[in-house]
Amino acid sequence: MELYKAMQERRSIRKFKPDPVDRKLLEELIQKSMWAPSGTNVQPWKFVVLTEKKKEEFWQLSNLVIEAVDETLKQQFSDKMRLFIHGYFRDFGGAPALVVVLTQNNENQEGIQANYESASAAMYNLLLLAHEAGLGTCWMTGHLAVEKKVLELVGCTDYRLVGVTPIGYPDQSPPVPPRKGDKLLWLDK
Ligand SMILES: Cc1cc2nc3c(=O)[nH]c(=O)nc-3n(C[C@H](O)[C@H](O)[C@H](O)COP(=O)(O)O)c2cc1C
Repeated sequence: MELYKAMQERRSIRKFKPDPVDRKLLEELIQKSMWAPSGTNVQPWKFVVLTEKKKEEFWQLSNLVIEAVDETLKQQFSDKMRLFIHGYFRDFGGAPALVVVLTQNNENQEGIQANYESASAAMYNLLLLAHEAGLGTCWMTGHLAVEKKVLELVGCTDYRLVGVTPIGYPDQSPPVPPRKGDKLLWLDK
């Protein structure tokens, strides 16, 4: 698939078919995602895949996430949308797998920021490659509110949480959010 087409067509998917994703395919997509640039070539990412019982254990963190983010949701969304978001945090749209993206910790603030940026580049690669393979994803950061518990659950307490994405076969085609203007500044003097 042409890269630009994949960038335009990829959507955040919030409803999945229950069909499992082949383990070999998912491993291959994740390995390919690691062809991202990284600050000082540290390659600081780590991808943790959760399926079956482990995925359900992760779901159990959802009430804590909802509690932590609900005030913000109240300010930004209608009650109907807020309840939909609660439901999505609870079951990730029925996705058969979750990918938790982590980055190496660093005592130095610039170092940690570079690690986040590098791991985010790799995470976006995964979103695009998944789309090319006919899979849906949705980058989610709500679980940053319970980062410590996420790291404990996946057994990587010396890492930091970048984001979580469900992954599976899409059961919806969301509308295309238009691009917002005035985002490019060109300076030559
Ligand atoms: C850093 C980041 C955090 C996000 N967090 C969430 C989230 O917690 N829950 C969610 O449903 N979507 C989340 N999204 C998805 C955005 O809502 C989505 O990308 C945006 O609405 C544009 O839609 P599109 O991805 O279909 O183009 C997040 C996306 C990014 C990049």
